[in-house]
Amino acid sequence: MKEKIEELIKTIQSLDANSAEELENIRLKYLSKKGEISMLFNQFREVPNDQKREIGQRLNVLRDIAQARMTELKDKIELSQQESNRLDLTRTAEPIALGTRHPLSLVREEIIDIFSRIGFTVAEGPEIEDDWHVFGALNFPPEHPARDMQDTFFIEKNPDILLRTHTSSVQTHVMTTQKPPIRVLCPGRVYRNEAISARAHCFFHQVEGLYIDKNVSFADLKQALLYFAREMFGEDTQIRLRPSYFPFTEPSAEMDISCNICGGKGCAFCKQTGWVEILGCGMVDPNVLEACGIDSKVYSGYAFGMGVERITNLKYQVKDLRLFSENDIRFLDQFK
Ligand code: PHE
Repeated sequence: MKEKIEELIKTIQSLDANSAEELENIRLKYLSKKGEISMLFNQFREVPNDQKREIGQRLNVLRDIAQARMTELKDKIELSQQESNRLDLTRTAEPIALGTRHPLSLVREEIIDIFSRIGFTVAEGPEIEDDWHVFGALNFPPEHPARDMQDTFFIEKNPDILLRTHTSSVQTHVMTTQKPPIRVLCPGRVYRNEAISARAHCFFHQVEGLYIDKNVSFADLKQALLYFAREMFGEDTQIRLRPSYFPFTEPSAEMDISCNICGGKGCAFCKQTGWVEILGCGMVDPNVLEACGIDSKVYSGYAFGMGVERITNLKYQVKDLRLFSENDIRFLDQFK
């Protein structure tokens, strides 16, 4: 009996199983009621008294080893099952979370798309500029408040290097490097030294437009802007132009559209006026054309500029400008 026990201990330690079925067979063979180990326990009664102590101990050892080996094999089988699940190449793919376009990008692209249908192409330029491209060429007098540190971020003084405050600087580049007819859109980020709040930010985005040719008139400007307003905000949209002032245009105007939230009846959004301002515009001042080397007796042009944030607010009613730059996925996810 002693030899039988020692032999079984060896066999059981070297047992292996690769499936639940094989494991069950092992259990039946050794540990079930009629299994080999149980049989040995039955025969224990016949062991002579002086051997009972030693054989009893070895029998218990045998049973413990058998049970431990069963648990080990069970764990091994479970693990390998998990492993092969992980490598199941036939499983259907997990859905991939797709990102969304930023609302400002969506609106910028829409503005560009609308104007490209009437012949405008895109021009881009640097965000860091000299004074001449941002102010000088555009007829800003030397003492103009925009040239003040309070409004403009300067990088260097004398000669002045600064962050552009509007993308009109790109128009300067185009006018000095291309010959009319010119028909460009200038989208881009601009910087102004403002305290950050729900309504103002130290950077925002613009799309400006410039058209220079022979016989360009204010009526052409008005028609292009009416077309844009209706494409962007719907065909019932009305526009109105109010006289305004910009150094680089003469005459200058600001354009309102009929409030796209109340349809012009008056609401909190349009402060009960029925109108909301969306852009500045005007006929390019002859001084600007001359500064850029274009003959103002032959050519005339119009220009306009709008804030992309402003248009986005109108389209999607985003109340706080800061949302655009916080990268909060809960906000961004809404623009599918
Ligand atoms: N550059 C002006 C601004 O930044 C906008 C504008 C562009 C106005 C062209 C008139 C003509 O506010």
